[in-house]
Amino acid sequence: MKVAFFSSKPYDELFFRKENEKYNFELEFFETSLNSQVVNALVDETAICVFVNDIVDRNVIEILANKGIKIIALRCAGFNNVDLEAAKEYGIKVCRVPAYSPEAVAEHTLAMLLTLNRKTHKAYNRVREQNFSLNGLLGFNINKKTVGVVGTGKIGKAFINLIKGFGCEILAYDLFPDKELENSGVNYVDLDKLFKESDIISLHCPLTPENKYLINKSTISEMKDGVTIINTSRGGLINTVDAIEALKEHKIGYLGIDVYEQEEKLFFKDLSAEIIQDDTIQRLMSFPNVLVTAHQAFFTQEALEQISEITLRSISDLAKNGKTEKIEML
Ligand code: NAI
Repeated sequence: MKVAFFSSKPYDELFFRKENEKYNFELEFFETSLNSQVVNALVDETAICVFVNDIVDRNVIEILANKGIKIIALRCAGFNNVDLEAAKEYGIKVCRVPAYSPEAVAEHTLAMLLTLNRKTHKAYNRVREQNFSLNGLLGFNINKKTVGVVGTGKIGKAFINLIKGFGCEILAYDLFPDKELENSGVNYVDLDKLFKESDIISLHCPLTPENKYLINKSTISEMKDGVTIINTSRGGLINTVDAIEALKEHKIGYLGIDVYEQEEKLFFKDLSAEIIQDDTIQRLMSFPNVLVTAHQAFFTQEALEQISEITLRSISDLAKNGKTEKIEML
């Protein structure tokens, strides 16, 4: 069986080729992202494997179906980039990797927070320039702060378990509160209360049509002055233009983002010799109190091993039985 990978990077090839020793599939790795032109290059593949910024819309799905593709495997958790309804209509099975080291993303979230609150991103450069002054590096303690966590699934829960160790009060919001967290002292509240009372807000819910721009001019105005916001979930949860305004007004004190609403044009690429046309990200990166990482929260050895293992097992199960044993189908 032939499987074509899109948006492939050397590390994908490394981990998937190793895992494929168990399956002996014919793997093809395309650096390019999937779109309605590229999809025409497919010949006799059974499955395609895509990542977060590959657009798998109705148009692409129609072509995939005509090419005989039976399986779309997402090597990620989020699936907002796939038209599931169209896939169903065309009889293409879609699977994802619902959980792969939620701790990887939770730990990166914490790393972003601990960078911003102690300004280590500034200190690192300063000391390298032999500037040992502390002026401008004044931080704040995480201890005793109120942390609002939106979305308490696998990653939100893992983050809560980490941040609890700092002696914080946790406010949480989820459509389906987690009993275990509730019993452990996490206080589920409505979003308004979470926005109003949190010193630090961390987003861990999926992006859906209902929560697009969850963080916007109006919700930001409810928040505490100087609030810290961390988003390792999906870029579309934050209205970036509104966030920039709030940063200029010192309403947002610190912003850490591992995801960005226009990231598909930028992230995972080396653009260091290019002129970036996206003025919004450039403005964002000009703030000293903003930390941007390029969708790397998942990027640990452990997570890549699990992603390749689960993806190839799902493809194998789906090809053999039309369903997966343990893996969630979409
Ligand atoms: P999960 O499915 O375990 O948990 C998501 C939680 O969000 C669930 O408890 C669900 O009830 C809740 N939820 C859904 N809609 C909501 C809403 N409108 N408001 C509040 N809560 C809502 O997912 P998991 O594994 O925790 O991942 C969360 C998100 O993290 C993913 O959807 C993905 O967007 C992002 N992610 C980012 C990565 C990165 O590298 N930056 C890597 C992996 C995931």
